Amino acid sequence: MRLKTLATVLGVAAAVFPATGIAQERAFGVGLITPPVHVWNQEVDAMGETLGSLSDGRFSVTAFPSGQLGSENEMLQQLQTGALDMAWLTTAEVTTRVPDMSALHTPFLVDNIEDAARVLRSDEAREILELLPRATGAVGICYAMTGMRQMMSREAMDSAADLDGMRFRITPAPPMRSFFEMLGAAPAPMPLTQVYDSLANGQIDAIAMDYESIINFGYHDHAPYMLQTNHQMFPMVALVSGRVWAQMSPEDQEIVREAVQAHCDATIDRFVEGEAGKLETLQAVEGLTITEGVSKDFFGDVVEQWDTEWAGQTDYVERLRALVAGF
Ligand code: BEZ
Repeated sequence: MRLKTLATVLGVAAAVFPATGIAQERAFGVGLITPPVHVWNQEVDAMGETLGSLSDGRFSVTAFPSGQLGSENEMLQQLQTGALDMAWLTTAEVTTRVPDMSALHTPFLVDNIEDAARVLRSDEAREILELLPRATGAVGICYAMTGMRQMMSREAMDSAADLDGMRFRITPAPPMRSFFEMLGAAPAPMPLTQVYDSLANGQIDAIAMDYESIINFGYHDHAPYMLQTNHQMFPMVALVSGRVWAQMSPEDQEIVREAVQAHCDATIDRFVEGEAGKLETLQAVEGLTITEGVSKDFFGDVVEQWDTEWAGQTDYVERLRALVAGF
């Protein structure tokens, strides 16, 4: 669904009231690239309930899943113009406008999902959110995530040399591209919505992906080898259009902040609790070969190379490494 249709759907809600004492009613349009079955989408729906109860029924949510509004990049533009109220986007998408956010994609930053949650709730990560209004025209309320990233391929990856020349689908973002280029792969940036078909028709050889999405889409149908690398956490950032935000009273901004934060927290908690069970689900998939516990050493000195390149672009790489060293 593109902009014109969205404007029609949200026609009533989009009526602009000045930020006076008048109680505004609003159905917030929320865009996501993920399908309705994904935890993010479930939490966005639940956020609608929370917004309704905190606002005495004035606020609700209309979710636009599965990239109905376009790519994440297009959704970011819609937030900037105020055509879209809110979006739950990958932080990867935002790295093109906020290079400091690339530090959240530092390879092998954390060993486990509990530490990923601690990083996302840290003061350092929250500081990066403060850069968003100026760089993107959107207010970053909070982070959540979709777990840790693993690697899946059509042919076995027995050593890092096997990645050489592999057409490796990546989420379009500079820190991902660097990592896979350093691994000798041929990065193929593409939105989530195109990944299953591209694997099925052989356009790509391998993907980096989280358990939740692997299970939801069934990528193992065409990529029967998985390296359990946990090589990156994969955060989400909950955004509100700066224009929409500016139209709200401080009291309403507080309601929105509280509701969104509650569901970022719930999302993080669900991923922390669910990660081990999702691995068990995949272990039970017939025909899927999983190599568990693949560490950074498998990739030679690529992580050090990545750090050297990216520490020159953002001091958050070193700050987050120092933070995690203190856990
Ligand atoms: C991806 O681009 O790989 C992705 C995006 C959102 C959720 C999960 C995965």
